[in-house]
Amino acid sequence: MISIFSIKHHLVKRDIMTKYQEVQTDLLAASKTWLVTGVAGFIGSNLLEKLLKLNQTVVGLDNFATGHQHNLDEVKSLVTTEQWQRFMFIQGDIRNLDDCKKAVTGVDYVLHQAALGSVPRSINDPITTNEVNISGFLNMLVASRDEQVKSFTYAASSSTYGDHPALPKVEENIGNPLSPYAVTKYVNELYAGVYARTYGFKTIGLRYFNVFGQRQDPNGAYAAVIPKWTAAMIEGEDIFINGDGETSRDFCYIGNTVQMNILAATASSELKDKIYNVAVGDRTSLNQLVQAIKVELIKNGIEIKGNLIYRAFRDGDVRHSQADINKACTNLGYEPKFDIFSGLNNVMSWYINFLRKG
Ligand SMILES: NC(=O)c1ccc[n+]([C@@H]2O[C@H](COP(=O)([O-])OP(=O)(O)OC[C@H]3O[C@@H](n4cnc5c(N)ncnc54)[C@H](O)[C@@H]3O)[C@@H](O)[C@H]2O)c1
Repeated sequence: MISIFSIKHHLVKRDIMTKYQEVQTDLLAASKTWLVTGVAGFIGSNLLEKLLKLNQTVVGLDNFATGHQHNLDEVKSLVTTEQWQRFMFIQGDIRNLDDCKKAVTGVDYVLHQAALGSVPRSINDPITTNEVNISGFLNMLVASRDEQVKSFTYAASSSTYGDHPALPKVEENIGNPLSPYAVTKYVNELYAGVYARTYGFKTIGLRYFNVFGQRQDPNGAYAAVIPKWTAAMIEGEDIFINGDGETSRDFCYIGNTVQMNILAATASSELKDKIYNVAVGDRTSLNQLVQAIKVELIKNGIEIKGNLIYRAFRDGDVRHSQADINKACTNLGYEPKFDIFSGLNNVMSWYINFLRKG
């Protein structure tokens, strides 16, 4: 029998829980089915890991364009056999509507991450970026609405702020896009808005600001700055800084991004049809970032041998970026747990092990 004391105790415990803890407790009590597109990628595989650890059922869709089987293998090694059995992988392409329809079947929550990232990639190949990021996105919207999923949360981007000079960035004030990639991410938001107004299908767009963490690919021409520099320093290579190094970003550790996805997906209906910044609310220059990575690697016993080389500014890059995260904190109960330093501290041993494995 449940005593008055245990009910009171339960209520007191719930009162002091953060929103994120509360949502996780509810998910553990009643498992849901999630679709993570881009599941073999950096952010997708981290979402997969967290959801499986919460005993959720997860469908994953990916075509391995930039994602890797080794990311899925790593998640498998981090969860129990029983949790892994709750994962179903579909190798497919979001440009194919049938693949999207198959993936959303029976799903409660969609976390749409699949896209071709990188500003330079989009400048070199705007057509493929457009096909994946816009046509693929629309396929996912159509399939999700037809399936009447409970929520559709998608990866938007801080690149949508474009040339708007104000800092910090507030969701309502955007400028002109500076790259084809930024156009595609803005079009996602426009389509999402139209879907709410035309079909009553409300979505949540998460404008990610430079996410970093375990399983972010350090290899390839389009690697992001933190994995690229970390790998270069571990391997004793030179570091190239585009511009004078005073370009700044709001670097956001993956743990915060995962938290936002789970809060957004499970939010009540009136909090949907909205766009939210996902970041920390801090600003770190590239010069400061080099030093912070060095400090962490030295702590891990790595000797820094390469030189720091400054070169021209890169086309399409926004000069400064820093988020105002008040909307996410107020509406969704978002509380970023990691700043750039704790995030770098968490990720360094992963990169050292990953690169040693070759
Ligand atoms: N990492 C960041 O800092 C950042 C910042 C802003 C926005 N985003 C957005 O977040 C999302 C995830 O980014 P990420 O950093 O994990 O990148 P990622 O490249 O590691 O992951 C993207 C995944 O999508 C998959 N994919 C690509 N095209 C596909 C297709 N046609 N069909 C099916 N799957 C496909 C890739 O294979 C990959 O596994 C993307 O939408 C990206 O634009 C990321």
